[in-house]
Amino acid sequence: MEPSVAVRAIFAFLCTITIAFTSSEETSIHRRSLPSTTDDTQMAHYFFYQRSEYPKDCQDVQSQCSTSNSSGVYIIKPDGFEEPFEVFCNNDVGGGGWTVIQRRDSGAVNFDRSWSQYKDGFGFLSTEFWLGNEKLSYLTNQAHYELRVDIKLSNGASFYTTYRGFRITDEWGQYQVTHIGEFECNATGTPFTQCPTNMIYGTCSCKATCEDPNGHSGCNRDCLGTEGCTCPAGFLMQGSDCIRASGCGCFVAEANLVIPDGETYVNDDCTRNCSCNNNRLICEDYRCSTNAVCDVRNEIRQCYCNEGYEGDGENCPSSVSYRDCQDVYDAGNTQDGVYSIMPTGWPGSPFNVHCRMHGDEGWTVSHFNAANL
Ligand SMILES: *[C@@H]1O[C@H](CO)[C@@H](O)[C@H](O)[C@H]1NC(C)=O
Ligand SMILES: *[C@@H]1O[C@H](CO)[C@@H](O)[C@H](O)[C@H]1NC(C)=O
Ligand SMILES: *[C@@H]1O[C@H](CO)[C@@H](O)[C@H](O)[C@H]1NC(C)=O
Repeated sequence: MEPSVAVRAIFAFLCTITIAFTSSEETSIHRRSLPSTTDDTQMAHYFFYQRSEYPKDCQDVQSQCSTSNSSGVYIIKPDGFEEPFEVFCNNDVGGGGWTVIQRRDSGAVNFDRSWSQYKDGFGFLSTEFWLGNEKLSYLTNQAHYELRVDIKLSNGASFYTTYRGFRITDEWGQYQVTHIGEFECNATGTPFTQCPTNMIYGTCSCKATCEDPNGHSGCNRDCLGTEGCTCPAGFLMQGSDCIRASGCGCFVAEANLVIPDGETYVNDDCTRNCSCNNNRLICEDYRCSTNAVCDVRNEIRQCYCNEGYEGDGENCPSSVSYRDCQDVYDAGNTQDGVYSIMPTGWPGSPFNVHCRMHGDEGWTVSHFNAANL
């Protein structure tokens, strides 16, 4: 897995666009203003007693530096982080006070990096950079944050999206996004490709479908650099929808029909039986017993045993027990062989006998010498 996938993917949620049309993208975070509850009072005390000499994020920078309110590089130190470090504060959008965590524009900085580079951060605060997962983890765990993504398209159009909550875990938790809040987007009617509502913008645009859960040639494993709209993890495409993998059926091409997982489909003349198993269609030859017909009953097509026979349709042994080989013969079994009979009044269960069929009669052989056969 690309180290940054967990974190990168969120910058690309619903409102984002195909990277090819983007000329710049800036992502920043801002402390959320919570409704005034007792929490606020507790927070205030907490900040009062624990106040560090450094601002803990760009919001503190903005409120502490009343002389300077311009966007630029400032030094902050989130609660618990050992060293103060530089960040770029954006005071030009959304009332200012936004701590910028990444920016991409010219493409001069390579974002295809290792886990440790994403951990420590890379690039240049004045141009393109990734702040670093470790810093981001401390930042987002010291208070409630919202996330904002500002995007400029190469055609000049711009828009931004905000997520009401945002938090990632520490390295032990692999910097996974543990919280992402409600999403808002100010882009309406701008001319760009938007992901359909049930899809997300991801670092892998490979389409895994119900028919092909691993994607062509297992592209789920190897699709770096192909960003685009895709189904969230655990979902697969079915037609134009992303549906839960467990809800995927199987597509039976010959009948132009999707059958749910676990169900079977038998074709028109009962010569093939297809079953849907873990979203894979497995078909095998199927054939009705000579004592069965191919029929649709209660909306289920399959081989049904004729009256007097019982079975699954492929095998239909007689349901009536034969008294002797004459009954066996009369039931249409004209071949010599071993049959099960049960004479009238016999107290036990049916037993096997050898029947020898002559002309139109069946003889029960009471004694035979194996050497004669
Ligand atoms: C700083 O700039 C922002 C955005 O231009 C503005 O909304 C805000 O009122 C300014 N704050 C101060 C303290 O001047
Ligand atoms: C969205 O926000 C951007 C940046 O503030 C602004 O330039 C743009 O006009 C807005 N777009 C719409 C459709 O409101
Ligand atoms: C079709 O095949 C499946 C899987 O082998 C089996 O479970 C099912 O009973 C078969 N259907 C019929 C009608 O025989």
